[in-house]
Amino acid sequence: MKSLNVAVIGTGYVGLTTGVTLAYLGHQVTCVDVDPQKLALLRAGKAPIYEPGLEELMQAARSNLRYTESYAEAVPQADVIFIAVGTPSLPDGSPDLQYVQAAARGIGEHLGPRFAVVVNKSTVPIGSGNWVEALVQEAYEARNGKKARAPFAVASNPEFLREGSAIHDSLYPDRIVVGAEDPRALEVLYNLYRPLVEQSFPAPTFAPRPERMEAVPLIATDLASAELIKYAANAFLSVKISFINEIANLAERVGADITQVARGIGLDSRIGTRFLQAGVGWGGSCFGKDTAALIATGQEYGLAMPIVQAAREVNYRQRERIVEKLQRELKILKGRVIGLLGLAFKPNTDDLRDAPALDIARRLLERGARVRAHDPVALENARRSYPDLGIVYLDDPLELAEGADALVLVTEWRHYRELDWAGLAQIMRRPLVVDGRNFLDRKALVQAGFRYVGVGVAGAEEVQAPSAVAEG
Ligand code: UDX
Repeated sequence: MKSLNVAVIGTGYVGLTTGVTLAYLGHQVTCVDVDPQKLALLRAGKAPIYEPGLEELMQAARSNLRYTESYAEAVPQADVIFIAVGTPSLPDGSPDLQYVQAAARGIGEHLGPRFAVVVNKSTVPIGSGNWVEALVQEAYEARNGKKARAPFAVASNPEFLREGSAIHDSLYPDRIVVGAEDPRALEVLYNLYRPLVEQSFPAPTFAPRPERMEAVPLIATDLASAELIKYAANAFLSVKISFINEIANLAERVGADITQVARGIGLDSRIGTRFLQAGVGWGGSCFGKDTAALIATGQEYGLAMPIVQAAREVNYRQRERIVEKLQRELKILKGRVIGLLGLAFKPNTDDLRDAPALDIARRLLERGARVRAHDPVALENARRSYPDLGIVYLDDPLELAEGADALVLVTEWRHYRELDWAGLAQIMRRPLVVDGRNFLDRKALVQAGFRYVGVGVAGAEEVQAPSAVAEG
């Protein structure tokens, strides 16, 4: 394999995972970040984010990895330069591109004589490829004189990794999408990804290759298509989840069971079983931001996007439905003690961005309830980032249950299924559990003395203690 020289600007989830993965595949990678604390951690072999397998992969690839704050150290000799900086939402839903802009300028100022491909990995609005190209060229001219043509081409290479399974998703992607107008860019990126496409690298022990893994399709497109693929993929998944939640709400009314309905439709290969898990809905750094950005792009072009809009509305209403369930059970929320099991927006991460738990907590607090919360990993992040919300953060689920009127499962950490539920029921003021992910073992909970309320689960709201349930 031909080893390439790679620079990655930005060491967030996407940048760091990309850099470490490419280093593992045998490329020479330099990661650039402006944050000296992050760099110190990285140089000490520590990942600044919680991501299973990431530190192990950093360790395995360490001879091919460098970390620096200096563009001058990373850019001039690079064959491929990734822009993987943050694009947070502005109040109108459009992404804030100031960091992308700064990265593009920094690259333009430091490009050497060698041909390089500048790759957008950050999720950027459609058309940003051309914008980045102009910024790089301008900065290059400012340094090297007017009319000096910078030796580079831009490409878009959207990232589809999920937090919590970032290493797995990077090593074993469903597909790789590369958009560029310049054929030289496509050729360089094909060489970069060849070990992934051919799956020719040795699988790390902590991230085994899935059985029957075949060659990974690499889709080459124009720039705009690659940029739109990223938004369309995230919007589609958001719609899929909101769709099943909408059906779940109806299932509750008609006495159907959404888990069976989801399986019944999902086994149709045109639909597929994944991302049909009903519950409190989606959160995280991507779905909310990208659906908002897609709608903002539509507006810019005079186009309404009612399906994406509806997916958002259904999603955020789903959080309120948890509060309604509690209200129905407890009648009065004022003064009630509610324990939230899970804060992270999903398991295996400490990420709290757009986390349903925080929203549910805010709504409960507004109604006068007292809210406690536990999370096996995200607790520290919550204490640090949200000290003043009014949530009491507790390290032990037992403390959470002590004297509580209800527990709400918000994040499906595996650990929560194995709690001593009978013990918890004993110490609560009222053994009520609202399972916001339909994740817990309903039968076992009812046997432990709980009243169990799920989301769209047949008769869930009528499940009684064992004495009242017919056998079989
Ligand atoms: C997502 C995309 O999956 C990924 O391709 C993209 O690169 C970034 O955004 P991520 O946000 O890390 O990844 O998590 P994901 O596993 O997709 O879950 C998103 C949210 O949807 C979570 O809050 C999860 O709990 C929720 N979800 C997921 C459901 O409510 N039901 C499901 O069936 C699946």
